[in-house]
Amino acid sequence: MRGLLGIEPLERAEIEAILERARAFQTRESHKEILQGRMVVNLFFEASTRTRTSFEIAAKRLGADAVSITAAASSVSKGESLVDTLNTLNAMRPDAIIMRHAASGAPHFLARHLRETPIVNAGDGTHEHPTQALLDARTILDRGKKLEGLRAAIIGDIAHSRVARSNVHLLSKFGARVVLCGPAPLLPKELAQIAPGVELSYDIREAIREADVIMMLRVQLERQHEASFPAGEYFRFYGLRLEHLGLAKPDAIVMHPGPINRGREISSEVADSQSSVILSQVENGIAVRMAVLERILRS
Ligand code: NCD
Repeated sequence: MRGLLGIEPLERAEIEAILERARAFQTRESHKEILQGRMVVNLFFEASTRTRTSFEIAAKRLGADAVSITAAASSVSKGESLVDTLNTLNAMRPDAIIMRHAASGAPHFLARHLRETPIVNAGDGTHEHPTQALLDARTILDRGKKLEGLRAAIIGDIAHSRVARSNVHLLSKFGARVVLCGPAPLLPKELAQIAPGVELSYDIREAIREADVIMMLRVQLERQHEASFPAGEYFRFYGLRLEHLGLAKPDAIVMHPGPINRGREISSEVADSQSSVILSQVENGIAVRMAVLERILRS
């Protein structure tokens, strides 16, 4: 494994190894010897709170130096091209580059351009967000659930969601059944074909019925080019409320990659309920990213 560009190309065994290793990193014990003296550059061309911070903390807990660059504060805002920015950073000899970009495929382009530096995709456009799916899987397993035979409902703006895509690939490799649910303009029919075991539903109640996992997604207004639904209307049809939880399995969990928009895709009562594992997801982000960094850098 050179870097980590997506879940789709991974073997099930590689995913299992990362998830298992992440367990060892769930405590706050020091592991600074693992990547002592290595340097990880976070290159973020899009807004991020959780992902960037947790990659930074993960690198530091493993003893690496972590430098973060955000596009707005870099020379990108002075008109520098992507290739020139990358060449400049690469001249500083980082051991790995973590990249988030609004264009699908940008980290793959970077990986082809900088063959010797491992690249980790921290979210590329509407394509993939592999470490999010890994931390989601770790969180599901921590709740005593098995991925084999799991029933997951992923609800919201599926069309623009890299989180949905990475999760579909991961869950389907393990034989889970995934129902994708959202309003028709945000749920293109082709998505039923992206992996085995995927169904589509336009009805939130139908999607949630008997679910083990309910994964809510933000409406990605920044990626929509057409008029969006009024927030109130969206919430009425696709917002998750307490009354919905009774349709799912009794021990079902509610997930969300964040940032959450209370009163738009999820009610405050659900976000703060016992069923919600949103903050466990954030916590697992560090452990899973430590496992990924160790895997690509320790050699
Ligand atoms: C997501 C992202 O950026 O893809 N957030 C995250 O990384 N936790 C989802 C989103 O922005 O809605």
